[in-house]
Order: sequence, then structure tokens, then C-alpha cells
Amino acid sequence: MGLRRKRYEDGDGDGDGDAVQVQGTTGPTGDWAVELRGVRRQYGRGASAVHALRGIDLALPRGSFTAVMGPSGSGKSTFLQCAAGLDRPSGGTVRLGGTDITGMSENKLTALRRSRLGFVFQAFNLLPSLTVEQNVVLPMRLAGHRPDRRRAAEVLGQVGLDGLGRRRPGQLSGGQQQRVAIARALVTRPDVVFADEPTGALDTTTAAEVLGLLRQAVDGLGATVVMVTHDPAAAAWSDRVLFLADGSIVDHLERAPADRIAARMASLAAPSFSGAAA
Ligand SMILES: Nc1ncnc2c1ncn2[C@@H]1O[C@H](COP(=O)(O)OP(=O)(O)OP(=O)(O)O)[C@@H](O)[C@H]1O
Ligand SMILES: [Mg+2]
Repeated sequence: MGLRRKRYEDGDGDGDGDAVQVQGTTGPTGDWAVELRGVRRQYGRGASAVHALRGIDLALPRGSFTAVMGPSGSGKSTFLQCAAGLDRPSGGTVRLGGTDITGMSENKLTALRRSRLGFVFQAFNLLPSLTVEQNVVLPMRLAGHRPDRRRAAEVLGQVGLDGLGRRRPGQLSGGQQQRVAIARALVTRPDVVFADEPTGALDTTTAAEVLGLLRQAVDGLGATVVMVTHDPAAAAWSDRVLFLADGSIVDHLERAPADRIAARMASLAAPSFSGAAA
């Protein structure tokens, strides 16, 4: 625990959140699960250009759970898509598991996403005509590997769905369906799991179970999770919350309780923020 905290301290150790870069003192480039340097994303040109990301610098250690929060339009989805190789930044570099994906061809990027990244979405995104087990092994099949049924059973056990592999998603509750999606995200032992509002469609109790599962994937299996959420209670399960405003990371909180996270969010959303962001 002490070690973990130490790794998350901000650059100058004053805890004021100025050093969201978190690139710490140890490890050469490439040691990180996720590394963004000067990442910008601009939509359109000239006077009508939208600067969705204005130079994101961060490095997230393996085996960490990071939440990304911010007001609507602050750039959360753009951040997640650029970090996960689903969108190309206008500038800067993105490294995943030490691999620079910036100039990668679309084919290589697709292959990397399938074998080395996991995704969990608000809407579960399971294929209804496939069984639970078939959904879980889908990333293996898409990556051109033989579906490993033993691995599927193992990961279904890890998410608490032992014995449900033959069901169809429609025969499961929402929380169970999201567990299947998490099993699918973990099946290839990816470098990073990206989650976009994974509890947005779940009630509070079920959401807590799903978040506990992501936490367990980090603590027990060494997974790295990056999760976008609007919900301070969800973010409180993470090791670190990054706050985005107007395309920049403006603050971060370490191991913070939901009320502190909510208070920070409220201050970002307040009209006076534009002054504070400068
Ligand atoms: N395809 C696009 N074309 C033009 N502008 C876009 C496009 N996608 C996003 N934007 C703009 O980029 C900015 C960041 O959008 P983004 O979707 O990343 O925000 P967000 O933080 O995910 O918001 P929300 O919480 O509402 O989902 C916004 O100003 C948005 O209008
Ligand atoms: Mg969004």
C-alpha cells in the first residue's frame, strides 16, 4: 500500500495536483501500461476548430486503476478513443504497453487492439446470438487464435459466472451481462482495459459489484484499467481520478472518497472554473 501510494505522488510532492504527468522517477520509457505525450485532438480547422484535447501528458503504471472525470464536452471520450487507438490524435504520441501506436497502420492497430486491449462499454456490446462462452472467446477468434475454452471457463469463474457459459446474453441480468463483457475484456490478458461508463446502465448495487470486479482484476490479476465515468461513487473505486476540463487534465486525486471527488467535480462544473483553468 505504501509502495503503491509512493508511485502515485505528484512530481513535486506537494500534493497540489500540478503534476498530473505522473511520469515518476523510475523506469525508462516503455515501462508504462499507457503513456501519452503532448496528445492533441482537434476537430475542424480555422476559426471553427474544436480543441478536444490540448496536450495530454500522462503515464499510467501497470496494475493501476484510473478514473477519468470531467464536465460534458471536456474531452473524456476523445481521450479514451485516442488512448485506446480508436482515434488518431492530431499531435503527440500514444504508447500502449511500451509500443508506440502513433504511426501504426490501421491493420496493425486493429490487431493490437484485439490482442492487447480490452474494452467494456456502458451498453455491454455482447453479441446476442452467441453464447456467453462464445462472446468471451470472441477476441481470440478475431485475433485469429483458436478459442481457448479452458481460458474462457477460468475467466468466467473469475467474474463469478461459473456454469453460465452456455446461456445467451438475453438470459442474463444486466449486471451479469456486464460481467461477461469484463470476462471478454480480460480473456487475452490485455495490457490495458478501457471502460467507458461501465456502470452507466446498472443500478447502484449491481454497479458496485461490477466495480468490485474491476478492482479485483487490478489487485488480483494485475490488470490495468482506465475508466471514464460521470459517477463519483464509481470513481472512488479507482487508485487515481484524473479531471479533464476543456481538453486538459487540470487536477487529480489519489485514493479519494466519493464526496471529495464529487466536490472537485462540482468546482469544475461551476461557471467560475474558466478562470481557474488558466
Ligand atoms: N466528431 C467531432 N467533430 C467535432 N467536434 C467533436 C467531435 N467529437 C467531439 N467533439 C467535440 O470535442 C469536445 C470533446 O468531446 P468529448 O466527446 O470528448 O467530450 P466528453 O467529455 O466525452 O463529453 P460527455 O460527458 O458529454 O460524453 C466537445 O466540444 C465536442 O463537441
Ligand atoms: Mg463522452
